[in-house]
Amino acid sequence: MHFVTISILVCCSLGLSWANEWGYPDLDNNKDAPFPDWGGLCDSGKRQSPINLAAKWSLRGKFDALKFQKYRYVQKNLEMVNNGHSIQIDDFDDVLVMEGGGLAHEYELEQIHLHWWSEHTINSVRYPLEVHIVHRNKLYPNMTIATNFKDGIVVLGVLFHVSNTPNDGIASLIQELEELEGLHTYAGSLTTPSCAEAVIWIVFTETLPVTLEQVEQFKEIEYSNGKQLHNNFRNLQSINNRAVVLVELDDNRSGAAAGRTASLGLILILGLAAQKFVL
Ligand SMILES: *[C@@H]1O[C@H](CO)[C@@H](O)[C@H](O)[C@H]1NC(C)=O
Ligand SMILES: *[C@@H]1O[C@H](CO)[C@@H](O)[C@H](O)[C@H]1NC(C)=O
Ligand SMILES: [Zn+2]
Repeated sequence: MHFVTISILVCCSLGLSWANEWGYPDLDNNKDAPFPDWGGLCDSGKRQSPINLAAKWSLRGKFDALKFQKYRYVQKNLEMVNNGHSIQIDDFDDVLVMEGGGLAHEYELEQIHLHWWSEHTINSVRYPLEVHIVHRNKLYPNMTIATNFKDGIVVLGVLFHVSNTPNDGIASLIQELEELEGLHTYAGSLTTPSCAEAVIWIVFTETLPVTLEQVEQFKEIEYSNGKQLHNNFRNLQSINNRAVVLVELDDNRSGAAAGRTASLGLILILGLAAQKFVL
């Protein structure tokens, strides 16, 4: 019995163990449904995420460009998991490392997941989709340890705006990260329990296009007992005197538009694949 218990804890510590304990308000039934208390730091923390990113209030900074190692490699065995709260991709074939952009350490890609409606708002505008690309500081052996440190995790946030232009690109979103210019950065938290305040947030100010049909695909996926998850964004948190820096990347690559089409292919593929991975 003892061994069984341990293996269950290990397998589900990031996903299912929470599935019955926390969730999002049902905005379909009541647009003004109050956001539930998730407990712990989620309720008591002072450096929580997401926040509204207002260009007006931000400090200005200039950092060198973010550098992505091996992000252009084709990932053959991506695993798509419906974790009950989102759709997540992990298990990359290669160790993908990000550095630069004012970061003091190298960060390794852990997983990518999505929120529909965006969690961050930009100048109080909420977008239909936000992708979170979660990285762990290479100094720390795993996410559990990393969540204990202020510089433990870097999450890149990419927001999407609605567009009518369908896109059949097949390359992945991560391939075009280098092309995005301008970002907000601030110290914050995970936006799901435990809400650990271990995250350096980097949210790109430039948004990418997605069609409504593509977003709708996520809303149709079943999460539990035939229920669909129509929204999985956390409510906005107080800034509490934190500095939000609007960064201009010191980068003079040309042809920034070249990679722009790639992301939609990933979204589309995610949407289709996710339906096959319903738990
Ligand atoms: C994380 O690393 C620590 C230290 O090496 C280890 O004790 C712990 O079991 C690891 N946790 C997970 C979930 O792998
Ligand atoms: C920008 O371009 C100049 C001249 O072409 C070059 O010397 C410099 O290294 C470039 N900077 C970056 C960050 O690529
Ligand atoms: Zn997230």
